[in-house]
Amino acid sequence: MTSATFKLARRCERLKASEIRELLKLTARPEIISFAGGLPAAELFPAREMAEITRRVLETEGCKALQYSTTEGDPTLRHHIAERMNRTQQTRVEADEILITSGSQQGLDLTGKLFLDPGDVVLCESPTYLGAINAFQAYEPGFVEVDTDDEGMVPAALEQALARHDRVKFVYAIPDFQNPSGRTWSLARRRALVEIAAREGVVVIEDSPYAELRFEGEPLPALHAVDTAGNVVFLGTFSKTFCPGLRCAWLAAPRALREKYVMVKQSADLHTSTLIQRQMAGYLELYGLEDNVRKVVDVYRERRDIMLGVFAEAMPEAVEITHPEGGLFLWLTFPGHVNARDLLEKSLEQHVAFVPGGAFFPNGGNENTARINFSCMQPEQIEEGSRRLCRVVAEVLG
Ligand SMILES: Cc1ncc(COP(=O)(O)O)c(C=O)c1O
Repeated sequence: MTSATFKLARRCERLKASEIRELLKLTARPEIISFAGGLPAAELFPAREMAEITRRVLETEGCKALQYSTTEGDPTLRHHIAERMNRTQQTRVEADEILITSGSQQGLDLTGKLFLDPGDVVLCESPTYLGAINAFQAYEPGFVEVDTDDEGMVPAALEQALARHDRVKFVYAIPDFQNPSGRTWSLARRRALVEIAAREGVVVIEDSPYAELRFEGEPLPALHAVDTAGNVVFLGTFSKTFCPGLRCAWLAAPRALREKYVMVKQSADLHTSTLIQRQMAGYLELYGLEDNVRKVVDVYRERRDIMLGVFAEAMPEAVEITHPEGGLFLWLTFPGHVNARDLLEKSLEQHVAFVPGGAFFPNGGNENTARINFSCMQPEQIEEGSRRLCRVVAEVLG
């Protein structure tokens, strides 16, 4: 059979299959110990409680829970989200600044649709979240990676990038336990970014799926909380504190901007599932998220520590290893001559998977890095997989 050629839009030429998705297919084999995906631990999902909530919602609300609803999202759910954000992120958000989205991933896509014309510029951390690169890519921007160290984006580098590029539309940042690097921005860097962005008239897109997953240290205010100019869009999600399969998330934006987001979401999917929003609101009312978050944090902290313990003992000294205070990921930097894609091939022979870090740099390079997830394997698999990985690295480094 000859394969048909389709006359696709020009922007689709730049779309690549996500390396992580392709890898995840490979790593579904049961013998693989996978540190590749960013999956939460499924055994912590409250399936029994969700069955109870679903029954209650359908019994008390009946067909209304199965009907179309407003694009903005369920008012009760938005109210709960605003209350939680203000309590956990030190923000002062109101329910009418919130738009419910189908995953934060949709928030990223809507952001691209709303802000980006071909040739516009996105400023981002280096490295940054691959899913955001892919979401923005469809709108044909250029990416400028701003120098980023252990405290976050370097302010002087940010100012320089803004001075050099006159079509910057927004700065995209993940200030807490970043995917992929696990880094957390200091308070000083948060203030500097918000201040510089407001002065230069560019919006900050704060992507914050992990902030509540803190294992140690003091919580820091969100960028949205330190902003006084109404210049930050906050993307939050229940994927990592609750269950990703619900695809229930939100964004908080100044009212006038939120209205624009509502319009682009309307054309994308009319609204996020009515039933799922009612389930989520019901869960928050009946159980709250606090026990869930506590459980997740305890389990992930233990898993991080097992991995860090093995790496401290057996990883060659030439490898730099981060010590994230929360989240889902460690970040490894190998000596410059090591290519993590080759390392992955060798590691897969030992049935251990991870993601080579080069994929997280929109302009390429940095092939000597790797993202290692510690949230979704059992403790004994983490111990064994980490030992195997150390042996592979030791062999490669000779
Ligand atoms: C930084 C970041 N943003 C957004 C997302 C997407 O989250 P959601 O499941 O809410 O679409 C992820 C998922 O891993 C992520 O790491």
